[in-house]
Amino acid sequence: MESVQFRDIPAAGIDRALSLAYLVFHETPEEEKRKHHHELLLDCVRIGAYEDGELVGFVAAFPFTVSVPGGELPCPCLTFVSVAPTHRRRGVLSGMLAELFARAVADGSPIASLWASEDAIYGRFGFGPATHGHTVEIDSRRPLALRITPDDRPLRLVDPADAPGLLGAYYDRTRTERAGRIARGEAWWREEWLVTEDEEDDELSPPRVVVLGATGAPGATGAPNSPSDNATLPNTTATTNTTTIAGYAIYRTKTRDDAPGLVRLDELEADTPAAAAALWRYLASIDLTGLVRAWGRPVDDPLHLFAADRDQVRVTGDFPALWLRLVDVRKALESRSWAAPVDVVLDVRDDRLPANAGRHRLTASPDGCTYEPTDAPADLTLDVRDLAACYLGGTKADALVRAGLATEHTPGTVAALDAALHTPLLPHTVDEF
Ligand SMILES: CC(C)(COP(=O)(O)OP(=O)(O)OC[C@H]1O[C@@H](n2cnc3c(N)ncnc32)[C@H](O)[C@@H]1OP(=O)(O)O)[C@@H](O)C(=O)NCCC(=O)NCCS
Repeated sequence: MESVQFRDIPAAGIDRALSLAYLVFHETPEEEKRKHHHELLLDCVRIGAYEDGELVGFVAAFPFTVSVPGGELPCPCLTFVSVAPTHRRRGVLSGMLAELFARAVADGSPIASLWASEDAIYGRFGFGPATHGHTVEIDSRRPLALRITPDDRPLRLVDPADAPGLLGAYYDRTRTERAGRIARGEAWWREEWLVTEDEEDDELSPPRVVVLGATGAPGATGAPNSPSDNATLPNTTATTNTTTIAGYAIYRTKTRDDAPGLVRLDELEADTPAAAAALWRYLASIDLTGLVRAWGRPVDDPLHLFAADRDQVRVTGDFPALWLRLVDVRKALESRSWAAPVDVVLDVRDDRLPANAGRHRLTASPDGCTYEPTDAPADLTLDVRDLAACYLGGTKADALVRAGLATEHTPGTVAALDAALHTPLLPHTVDEF
């Protein structure tokens, strides 16, 4: 490993880095996709591992912003994690991550995140699954059975080209309500959500965007849903939402010879259960289709309760979504909001970033939080990866103790900690990077 150096990959080195990534991911992308990746990487932190001037490892990080309880934090979001097959298991990934963590701390980003292609890799680096997603299928060969009355306001199909301006402010508001959501700029909307040809399935139609509620022309101001109503998060899209949108869905369709036509739902957001019911009913009633498949739905989606026939609406997959690393535990804990008072001593194990390790007194309440080193005995011992899993409110400390992953030394500690970590809605991430 002494022969390997870690340093920035200059813009002129992006093509070489992409070739390494395509080699390890067994991909041969078309020129257009390569160009798209190249453009994405221009805005990323890019760390290379070099041996004798040869690139043998590569990792990039998007400079994203992720919602956390009570606000949002800058968060390097790791992508293109690649090590040459000739150099695997020699510590190249470990070296690149150490470099990235050091930069995150220096840049004031207390958290880092990624989506894992293999779950087994990242726990040892202190990442824990902080959000989970469900795959949901609706048998739509018959009308969707509902226990509530859907919102009867009009549904309109809108031009995907107008969607970033129309939906951007609405989406930003959802980020205040659920932790784990990534701020979307105009380019991210257009290239990741609304691109004409789906990257994984070229038989799918272009994206369709359906909106519930009255829609006005994008561009004016003073709308009820404008981000000024929610001061904690900035508007990340260029245009202000001028509508009284009550919800929207983005989906694609395809017909199939051997099975009912498919509606693939990419995103559905709604203000109320009735608005969500109207959108689900619409998706399940599109002619010439018989299956709605939604990927990456929130685990606490109200659909599961208001669907009248759970044989018709089934969860067919459950997976870790956003893996989170608390690179600066103190700053991370002090940066989120807390739902209830708690005063406990945590003993955190962190082999990779020893500055986080050891006993600290966590004193938090809705008024704020401090996290200070202490010699007092620990109330709870846990690994930094498991603290990361709890951080957005998606995993209970109580469940960690029950699973033998954390040790409660003082009875009542996890009950108090879980009450303080609680968020009304479970965290959720659907932007894969
Ligand atoms: C996964 C990959 C990045 C690992 O890189 P690497 O340089 O071999 O990793 P390191 O040598 O630093 O390994 C660090 C530790 O992780 C473990 N590890 C690495 N890859 C692993 C895997 N796929 N599954 C389980 N453990 C893994 C190593 O055994 C080692 O464990 P140790 O600390 O207990 O000894 C590399 O194999 C690769 O590029 N694979 C193909 C692309 C890929 O899967 N990228 C991940 C996308 S999310």
